[in-house]
Amino acid sequence: MNLISITENLWATPQPLQFFGLEIGTRMTIVRLGNGDLVLISPIHLRESDRPQLDALGTVRHIIAPNLFHHLFAGQAQALYPEATLWGIEGLAEKRSDLQLDGLLNQAGSFEGELDYVPFEGFAAWIPPRIVAANETVFFHRPSRTLIVTDTAFNFGEGDTLGTQLAARVLGSYNQLRPTRLEKWGTRDKDAVERSLRRVLNWDFDRIILTHGAIVESEGKAKLKEGYEWFLGRSLV
Ligand SMILES: [Fe+2]
Repeated sequence: MNLISITENLWATPQPLQFFGLEIGTRMTIVRLGNGDLVLISPIHLRESDRPQLDALGTVRHIIAPNLFHHLFAGQAQALYPEATLWGIEGLAEKRSDLQLDGLLNQAGSFEGELDYVPFEGFAAWIPPRIVAANETVFFHRPSRTLIVTDTAFNFGEGDTLGTQLAARVLGSYNQLRPTRLEKWGTRDKDAVERSLRRVLNWDFDRIILTHGAIVESEGKAKLKEGYEWFLGRSLV
């Protein structure tokens, strides 16, 4: 496990991941709450040998599958930490009946007033041949002013493989913090997305940790707003 310290009480663990033959990577975010509890958002493929590193940070108490795409490794994380609470989102139980979900993050809430979350409604992707709802929940780590997103924005650029760079160019998201055209085409209810986005933009964040592409260290709010103006095809005043 490649454990990277982002700032106080916040870590990320990147791991390779292919999608339609393209290396797009994935990234788990680890938040340590004030009481020492750890929250794992979008688990990567964890192994028994990863435990000492995680246990040195705190007590793994919450494991979160934040949307209908990032649940692949949640079962392994739960097997490593059976005492932890496994959180999913609306529709995940139907998709992954093998997972033992303990709860759903399907409405706004907060872990200890430090890690807030809201469902990002209306957002969907066109993954040929069908349109698939993401049902993503987005997070805000209040102490570090960090937004944590999974598939609601990407940030591909020079750091990615040439194939991924080319795909990002074709899909309108090269060197831009935004979703791709696959989500732009797949999302029918743009008003629901705008409502969700406005709730997100109400948070006082600067950094953005994404699951795919480079972390945005500053000015994340302005960049996300700009990306979603492209996505929604309207200006957000
Ligand atoms: Fe993803």
